[in-house]
Amino acid sequence: MSRDDVTKRQPNTIHADRRPIGTSSVSARPTRQSDLDWVVALESRPENARFVLQWPRDRHRAALADRSIAHWVVCEHDEPVGYMILAQVRIGAASVELVRLVIGPKGRGLGRAALEIARRFVFERLGAHRLWLDVFENNERARRLYRAAGFQEEGTLREAVERDGRYASLVVYSQLAGEAVEVPS
Ligand SMILES: CC(C)(COP(=O)(O)OP(=O)(O)OC[C@H]1O[C@@H](n2cnc3c(N)ncnc32)[C@H](O)[C@@H]1OP(=O)(O)O)[C@@H](O)C(=O)NCCC(=O)NCCS
Repeated sequence: MSRDDVTKRQPNTIHADRRPIGTSSVSARPTRQSDLDWVVALESRPENARFVLQWPRDRHRAALADRSIAHWVVCEHDEPVGYMILAQVRIGAASVELVRLVIGPKGRGLGRAALEIARRFVFERLGAHRLWLDVFENNERARRLYRAAGFQEEGTLREAVERDGRYASLVVYSQLAGEAVEVPS
């Protein structure tokens, strides 16, 4: 669907439709205030903290109130298993950022399913043109996931952030609407 199609169909719609989307077993719904302790605890687990920046609870809470941010809990059979955050969310957006994707039980295909939900939300619901993200260079699991989902590597932000007294590089990935591939759930 082109950006024009979306604008014509929903001329007065500024913000995204935030109904839950997903497959029968994996879905995503807007994060609630009552989820936030769980979100912060998951984010700070060592296996996640290595790869994602740490937000205080208040920063997550502010994100819930920000209409340009989609803060979602990822559920398997309605049980929370992870969360993801998208920014610059609006109908017909030129470029939407996947700010964060964290899954608790790893290696079971849940990250792949969550990423597919994000892609569908961005390209089908928003009619956006581009979905992009950055990832720490040493995050092999996530990089493999993004490549498998059809994201293209755009380049490296060399030593762009300081972590634990060292500089770390970030790799940028993106996908354009026309490049979206169907990933089996
Ligand atoms: C990255 C993350 C979201 C992936 O979710 P997941 O549920 O563990 O991943 P999946 O089981 O869906 O696997 C997705 C792909 O990752 C790759 N993968 C899985 N385990 C891996 C491992 N131990 N090493 C390398 N690659 C691995 C596989 O290529 C897999 O694709 P495949 O099914 O074609 O083999 C999750 O591991 C996570 O939360 N990690 C910590 C936080 C993080 O790094 N977030 C991303 C920041 S950009």
